[in-house]
Amino acid sequence: MQRNIKSISYDEDRPIVLIGMMGVGKSTIGRRLATRLAMRFVDADDEIALAADMTIPEIFEYYGEDGFRDGERRVIARLIEEGPAVIATGGGAFMNEETRKLILEKATAIWLDADINILVERVSRREGRPLLKGKDPRTVLTELAAVRTPVYALAPYHVKSGSGLHEQTVERILEALQK
Ligand code: S3P
Repeated sequence: MQRNIKSISYDEDRPIVLIGMMGVGKSTIGRRLATRLAMRFVDADDEIALAADMTIPEIFEYYGEDGFRDGERRVIARLIEEGPAVIATGGGAFMNEETRKLILEKATAIWLDADINILVERVSRREGRPLLKGKDPRTVLTELAAVRTPVYALAPYHVKSGSGLHEQTVERILEALQK
């Protein structure tokens, strides 16, 4: 079902920023949401890798997590300045106070949320997440979720992603934006 995007009531001049845990589907859902809204899609992690000319694991290896976070903060600030787009961010981006403030002030933040079992299942489909390397994903994700959930909850929109198709989550986001 194609929605009439003109009925959407959020500020269309602002970027839409997807936040939430690793494995929730921010990139896949973001890409589809962008298509539905006829907006550009950008993946912040891809942009960080492009700017550094390194993969995310390489950035963590050479610069450490602090170096990665610094690059992440600068890249997200640039992406937000570039105007309307759907921006998928890495799971830790919104935990940075400066980045969070910028997103809340200048973008429409949507917290994508899923049960831990879904996250564990989805992260197992892709390698390349340094925080999970050599660790039990359920333990790491449970610990991170405990710290991050209250902070993610500062986003004005909260959309739950179930185990069904990503397209259903896109529909839920479109519905939330119309309220
Ligand atoms: C991270 C999530 C990753 C990536 C980096 C750190 C995190 O992105 O930014 O590995 O701190 O949760 P995804 O959320 O897209 O996996």
